[in-house]
Amino acid sequence: MPNRPIPGLPHPIAIDGPAASGKSTVGQALAAEFGYLFLDTGLMYRAFTLAALRAGVGADDPAACEALAASLPLTARAGSETNIFLGDEDVTGELRAPEVEANVSKYSAIPGVRSAMVGRQREVAQSAPAVLAGRDIGTVVLPDAPLKIFLTASEEARAARRGEQQHQDAAQARRDISGRDASDSTRATAPLTRAPDALELDTTAMPLEAVLAFVRERVAALAARSAPAPPSATAAPHAPARAAAKDGARRALAPLRRVRAWFGYGRFTPAFYWACTYLLRFILMVIGRWKATGRERVPVAGPLIVVSNHLNNADPPIVGAGIARRRIRWMAKAELYKYPFGAIPRLWGAFPVRRFDADIRAMLQAERILKNGEVLGMFPEGHRSRTGYVGKPHPGTALIALRSGATVLPCAIVGTEQLGNLWNLLKKPRISVVIGEPFTVEKVRKPSEQQVSDLTERIFEAITALLPAKYLPTYTEPGKEGNAADGGDSPGV
Ligand code: DC
Repeated sequence: MPNRPIPGLPHPIAIDGPAASGKSTVGQALAAEFGYLFLDTGLMYRAFTLAALRAGVGADDPAACEALAASLPLTARAGSETNIFLGDEDVTGELRAPEVEANVSKYSAIPGVRSAMVGRQREVAQSAPAVLAGRDIGTVVLPDAPLKIFLTASEEARAARRGEQQHQDAAQARRDISGRDASDSTRATAPLTRAPDALELDTTAMPLEAVLAFVRERVAALAARSAPAPPSATAAPHAPARAAAKDGARRALAPLRRVRAWFGYGRFTPAFYWACTYLLRFILMVIGRWKATGRERVPVAGPLIVVSNHLNNADPPIVGAGIARRRIRWMAKAELYKYPFGAIPRLWGAFPVRRFDADIRAMLQAERILKNGEVLGMFPEGHRSRTGYVGKPHPGTALIALRSGATVLPCAIVGTEQLGNLWNLLKKPRISVVIGEPFTVEKVRKPSEQQVSDLTERIFEAITALLPAKYLPTYTEPGKEGNAADGGDSPGV
């Protein structure tokens, strides 16, 4: 796991949701990725239930339960997973026993039990960056958590998961789950509800990777927002008035932005993007011999420019399927949007660029994407290679990288030149995405020609280093298109 220290990474992270909605799986994966502790608070209520059953204290005696909770030597050891101790005894393995399962909702509804547990949970969250999973984390335990996630899934899917985990009959698992959900959601103290500012994800048909990708996107946006603002030149005397006016306008437009977020790109495109990405991964597995290497090198947060060679119109979604950790916003040729299916690239999150032109709008859009901490996708060659050989890069990518100071992630796409031909498809073509080592560039507001040219060369070298030799032209002089294209052993487009 990368476990890179990323400035501005939000913590603590609160995850709530009904039984078997994926809280532990997602929570553990995020904790592993960011190097956080993981605390499954449900296990604490389970451990209390076990202790109460052992001590013969019934849930119908709240005062006795409260006294037991206050004196219980319960230790929650949060790490990559959660272990619970009663005194020196590790009881983690006993916490999913049927008698605990059947009683935990009753005991966890008792206010005195909850307040004892909540105090211990907050201590864990204060001790180190942590992911806490439960029912009331975003609403009660950590109401100020910068990142809250609310997971849901159909009862059927949850029962199937729980049945599989616990080798239990799905019908029985469904009865247990629905009984617990009903009492967890309707109890008087800290019922299961979504915090208004939580990111809600329905995991019924979502693979873990897709859930993580959504969360990473939110993390990236939060990290970008909390990044320190660049030092400004001495502020102009009228700056405060201008800032106040700007603020007022922003506030007046807030309802409109919310509507847009609900119905527009903000909400729909990520869902559409991930649905397409996972469908494509499946199709690639079926039609070809598909491989993506180096995914662990993809930075989990922060502005990123993905750069690749370009062989086929299908390359943007295929590189996206190879990376599949973060959503890429591709710069795509403006002509694409004129076709009847032109709405699709837009919904998918791509934005138009007029090639062979200094397209300022596209440049600004690219810079906005990076400023938001998102991922920009670009083919430095500017167009598909007609020969299969990697072509001369344009300076646009380097210019954007320098002006934004974003990290550059070089990638190579191999084999998609075969996709245009049905005969090739029948032969199950080898298609792969190779992800290289990311590198950062220092931000320069007005880069010189030399700086742009040096970085263009560096990007080109980073991409070519990942490509098999058959895609590399033999250059006769720097910057001149390969002469191998004139007749040599071309990869054959
Ligand atoms: O997450 P789980 O299914 O292991 O949780 C077991 C029970 O504990 C659940 O039915 C409700 C309760 N619980 C709670 O009330 N508050 C939490 N933060 C976590 C769990």
